[in-house]
Amino acid sequence: MKLTDFEKRMLDGQFGKALAESLHYIVQFGEAFDAERLVDIQYCHYPAEMAIYEGSIEELQAFAADHSHVVVPTTSSTLCADMQYPEKTGIPERLAQKQSLTCSAHQKLGIQPTYTCTPQLNGAIPAFGSPIASVESSAIIFFNSMLGARTNRGGLFTKFSAVTGKYPKMGYLLEENRAGQHHFQVKDFPANSTEDSLWWSALGFVIGSSVGSEVPVITDMPIAPIERWITLGAAMATSGSVSLFHAVEHTPEAYTLAMAFKGKTPQTSKTIDKQMLVTAIEQMTNLLPNEKIDFICLGCPHYSLEQLRIISNRLQGKKVDPDVRFWICTSRMIRSMAQTAGYVQVLEEAGAKVIADTCPVESHMRISTCQEYHLPLPQIRALVTDSFKMARYTKDLIGCKVGLTTTEKAIQSALEGRYLVW
Ligand code: F3S
Repeated sequence: MKLTDFEKRMLDGQFGKALAESLHYIVQFGEAFDAERLVDIQYCHYPAEMAIYEGSIEELQAFAADHSHVVVPTTSSTLCADMQYPEKTGIPERLAQKQSLTCSAHQKLGIQPTYTCTPQLNGAIPAFGSPIASVESSAIIFFNSMLGARTNRGGLFTKFSAVTGKYPKMGYLLEENRAGQHHFQVKDFPANSTEDSLWWSALGFVIGSSVGSEVPVITDMPIAPIERWITLGAAMATSGSVSLFHAVEHTPEAYTLAMAFKGKTPQTSKTIDKQMLVTAIEQMTNLLPNEKIDFICLGCPHYSLEQLRIISNRLQGKKVDPDVRFWICTSRMIRSMAQTAGYVQVLEEAGAKVIADTCPVESHMRISTCQEYHLPLPQIRALVTDSFKMARYTKDLIGCKVGLTTTEKAIQSALEGRYLVW
């Protein structure tokens, strides 16, 4: 790999042993993928190092002790608890204490305490064309597709990029790898879809299942708020490992179909209709209509202020069924704005909990975490959500039954204590 003089000096240890080591990992990583050089990243979304991963906190503390500071604006991904109000998620004290060690290490490194899977709703908007390093599949696909920033699935290498400011020029940082490969024409998208996440989540899940890790191009999509595109990408990155999609006339590298494919011919072309979305919802759901439920989760990915406003209007003056735990997940920054606006008070008076920093899937309620830390197994039997990502992972990691439905019907399900189909 060709290195600049500055990079060579860093590698030689002129800026300290810790930076040399971090750059060494980045160079090795790049050489394994035949990258010709490194690039300067502009932004980083940093792994959370959650208390649920054995050893990761100690590693982070050692890393923070060795490195003085991140060198680009850096946000942080989700934790295993709401660390502003740990009692809200019921996390055992000893796990919360472990997690707070992570937060201190982040602070020492200069990482912003965003603790969210939607840093883009917290002001992290990397510019079009800028190389970045990111974890969290739903954020990665958004940065690449909706903003035209350049990132791969950063994984653990992200933290080495944050302190060196470097990443190998490879994968989606190369223009030629950003061409669309498969064409999806969307037909009969449900009429209310611009307002409801369920159909966007279903569409993303169907496309992700079809393309795996390749690049889909979608045509005939309606104009919709940014939250729907976040939902679409999150689902694509769940059923597949999609990190980039183009939506013609909506995303910045796809003003036209030809532009999305960069002059290449699509490998496949498919039409997606409403029935395919309904089938996906039915296949993911294993709750029966009207079956009693005990958990509702909205806010996957983490909600925006506008989404909290809509739900608080809907729950104003109502009461959630006393047997149902209703979590609405967001970031601490958005929650703080929602507190100022009075939405949180309305939601919590109705019996919902506005949770920040985490979500059921990332929390201590994972079966593997319960086993590792000798905790009682999570008492969630039947969960309702409007998100395929939440449905898939709670089924697998928490072991509960799930019911997918529209956001509106999920709220009504919370009030009635039973699963209402879409
Ligand atoms: Fe975010 Fe948790 Fe969903 S981290 S994307 S709310 S599974």
